[in-house]
Amino acid sequence: MQKYSKIISTGSYLPDKVYTNHDIEKFVDTSNDWIIERTGIEKRHIASESESSVDMAHAACIDAFKNCAIELKDIEMIVVATTTPERKFPSTAVLLQNKLNNNSAFAFDINAACTGFIYALDIADKYIKGGFVKNALVVGTEKITSLLDWKDRNTCVLFGDGAGAVVLSSSDTPGIISNTIGSDGSYKDLLTVNTDTEVIEMKGNDVFKIAVNTMGKLAASTLEKNGFKVEDLDWLIPHQANSRIINAVAKKINLPEEKIVMTVNKHGNTSAASIPLALDYANKQQMIHKDNIIMFEAFGAGFTWGSTLLKF
Ligand code: UT7
Repeated sequence: MQKYSKIISTGSYLPDKVYTNHDIEKFVDTSNDWIIERTGIEKRHIASESESSVDMAHAACIDAFKNCAIELKDIEMIVVATTTPERKFPSTAVLLQNKLNNNSAFAFDINAACTGFIYALDIADKYIKGGFVKNALVVGTEKITSLLDWKDRNTCVLFGDGAGAVVLSSSDTPGIISNTIGSDGSYKDLLTVNTDTEVIEMKGNDVFKIAVNTMGKLAASTLEKNGFKVEDLDWLIPHQANSRIINAVAKKINLPEEKIVMTVNKHGNTSAASIPLALDYANKQQMIHKDNIIMFEAFGAGFTWGSTLLKF
């Protein structure tokens, strides 16, 4: 049995094309002021027609391997969190594996909407701790703008595309300290993409309230069950859906704003990609450092939710 799994490298990719709020004002009845005030979003990246969630995942993984202690051939497991696969099958993870020229890993997708990355990390962590694999690649990738009705101002201003990746390896020291995941399918219709319309439909206000309550409780219980106080936390890296949700959750646990990694202003809501994108941003900006105590937390369609407590 391995003792812990540890993130040893991070990477990300954002498409070149950017829509600012002012760009969106041109085709839907909204305003830069409304979007900033209600969501904190200033801009988002949009994948090109020919760019898929596999292409973005591939670019994020190449980035993660630029400065990594292990090589791609050492990866034994690839888990991709996405709600926007390139094909119905084979999975995004298998298509990614092929693009990465790795033919030794086993690869599969998971769908837990915006919580997907935490679910994927939990699975990979358990494989490593169980001693089944030593090195895993965990990816969140989304071409979520392909699911938008660009005439619906309730949703089209909120989302963006991108991908983030981490290399997770076995370690004698922490590493991931704990993961918690949960779901409740009775909320299935509050945030959904139905197969007949294929666009995101959301009861935003209801989602907002449940997200704040659920993530507030989850953050508190994650710290408590691991014997941590909020002062022990160096950084909260939350799912980036809305700055008001993030700030409300931080307030519930008395976490100062300076300890929040906030990227929703730059990326919008990138669903399963949002936490690994924010993590890589904080890493490249040298905001986070070795041995920092970090908490991830997310909430998404289903509803699903999850948290990870880790030493970086
Ligand atoms: O990632 C998974 C989880 N997803 C989330 O966490 C998203 C959760 N929800 C939210 O972030 C927020 O509920 C929204 C940003 C979606 C909406 O903010 P809100 O403060 O809850 O606004 P609302 O839905 O209550 O709407 C307030 C008003 C409405 O007008 P009336 O009915 O008061 O006249 C909307 O029609 O704002 C209007 N509105 C807009 N106005 C300008 C809604 N969208 C827009 C828009 N531009 N884009």
